[in-house]
Amino acid sequence: MKAAKDEDIVLTGDRPTGKLHLGHYIGSMQSRVRLQDEYAKCFYMIADVQALTDNANNPEKVHKNVVEVALDNLAVGLDPNKTTFFIQSQIPEIAELTIFFLNLVTLARLKRNPTVKNEMKQKGFGENVPAGFLAYPISQAADILFCNSNIIPVGEDQLPVIEQDNEIVAKFNATYGETFRKIKPILSTTPRLVGIDGNAKASKSLGNAILLDDSPEEVKRKVMMMYTDPNHVHASDPGKVKGNVVFTYLDTFDPDKAGVEKLKQQYKRGGLGDVEIKKRLITVLENLLLPIRTKRQALARNPEAIMEILREGTERTRKIAKETMARVRKAVKIDYFS
Ligand code: TRP
Repeated sequence: MKAAKDEDIVLTGDRPTGKLHLGHYIGSMQSRVRLQDEYAKCFYMIADVQALTDNANNPEKVHKNVVEVALDNLAVGLDPNKTTFFIQSQIPEIAELTIFFLNLVTLARLKRNPTVKNEMKQKGFGENVPAGFLAYPISQAADILFCNSNIIPVGEDQLPVIEQDNEIVAKFNATYGETFRKIKPILSTTPRLVGIDGNAKASKSLGNAILLDDSPEEVKRKVMMMYTDPNHVHASDPGKVKGNVVFTYLDTFDPDKAGVEKLKQQYKRGGLGDVEIKKRLITVLENLLLPIRTKRQALARNPEAIMEILREGTERTRKIAKETMARVRKAVKIDYFS
């Protein structure tokens, strides 16, 4: 059986566990906004079921953050007229598809997934990992495949999950006949942003990220705290640019590349203070964040309108889910009454 349509379909999603930050923006959100003008069919999923896999005892947190991540995405320019917004839990076909995919993956394979391993370590699960959490890459395959999507903009940390999802595609097709297409991850030019403390990854749980709706004072405070070069004590000292978070952020967010290059030379020679480069970064980030923050605040005044976008998009998406499940039931030979 062939996929219903061969045209490319974009899908991406966020777990509603907290407000999104610059790492999300540069790793994936910016590509989403670009791709919605390049592809006719785009989906944005709020992955509340996946969020519950490690927050089963905290449903309020997940519930509250559904609107927050929707606001973050709308504020950076994801447009509900171009991208269909939906909530994962409200598409029961995703859960149904997950059940069949679970049979195609071994426990050993799940335990080997580097993304899951890393997150398990971070959360201190050990052997007491919830089964749902260990299996989330399987339900993520269902997130992607239930609507035939094949183009997935993600951050670098998600690559092992997509790889595992492609194994599920291959196994399903080999077992039940050609049903799903191969999935293609799309990485941004900066697929991973370092934390303000120099940690490899900016993350809300590590408290080392600049949030998209941080106030100007908060942005300033965080930039002033940024890790630079500990041996660069006096402005006159020669300083290191490599591993210096301020320069990493300038490289990523400052549109004036030649200007940044000049500063780097000066910093390396000596004669340029940390406060000066931090001030420049504050201006650069404020130029990026001011319009996002302003739009977010305006949208946040009308939460009912946000819920309506999600409700309407979910309803449209559900229709596609039903069509896919009809094909899957036929392939798995459980279409008894049709
Ligand atoms: N796992 C993703 C993250 O933590 C969120 C996600 C869930 C997702 N389902 C998806 C991303 C499907 C892309 C496609 O960021």
